[in-house]
Amino acid sequence: MLHVLDHPLGGHLLTRLRDRETPPVEFRTFSHHLGLLLAIEATRGLPVSAQPIQTPLEPFSGQRLAQGLVVVPILRAGLGMVTPYTELFPDVSVGYVGLERDHATAVARSYYCKLPPLAGKRVLCVDPMLATGGSAVQALDLLRANGAEDLSLVVIVAAPEGVAAVEKAHPDVPVYTAALDRELNASKYIMPGLGDFGDRLYGT
Ligand code: PRP
Ligand code: URA
Repeated sequence: MLHVLDHPLGGHLLTRLRDRETPPVEFRTFSHHLGLLLAIEATRGLPVSAQPIQTPLEPFSGQRLAQGLVVVPILRAGLGMVTPYTELFPDVSVGYVGLERDHATAVARSYYCKLPPLAGKRVLCVDPMLATGGSAVQALDLLRANGAEDLSLVVIVAAPEGVAAVEKAHPDVPVYTAALDRELNASKYIMPGLGDFGDRLYGT
């Protein structure tokens, strides 16, 4: 269920994100652009229904999106991946899950949750970094407990350990990523990775 983005622009943008010389203002722009490419990939299978319309010249059997969409960023870094959905999808709702990894243990602590109705919707949980997978698994557990049935996870960089954790806890959840990196280091940071995404996004 792992989908790795295969697009030359994806590799270009991700390299700019990895580069430690990239300042926050550019980091935000490149995150947004990479988030757009991932949003297109992650919504490729959305169902459509027939929509008959009239062009200026003749009747036309068109189509319209047939399933509501909910995007749920894991705060705070996930906020950098929301705008592509709100810009592209007419009826999207946004939910929020606040999770923060403890710097010493790398275990995520929940501090906020506000979700719209999830049943019957395509629910996309977005968070740029899938490291141990602790945050993603907690968020997916929460979304399931709140009625989500059709769930996907969209990240920018995944570690093999995080992918394995999500596959074990939620084997039916597709994971979309721009890259599958080598491993976690002793501090549970992704290698080669790009550092602390939230800090680089917000200049903290
Ligand atoms: C980062 C990242 C993920 C989490 C990934 O967030 O955005 O949510 O770490 O690590 P995991 O897979 O080991 O759980 P962080 O907790 O640093 O919070 P932030 O978004 O507020 O910076
Ligand atoms: N969170 C980050 O922001 N970066 C990592 O490498 C791991 C977790």
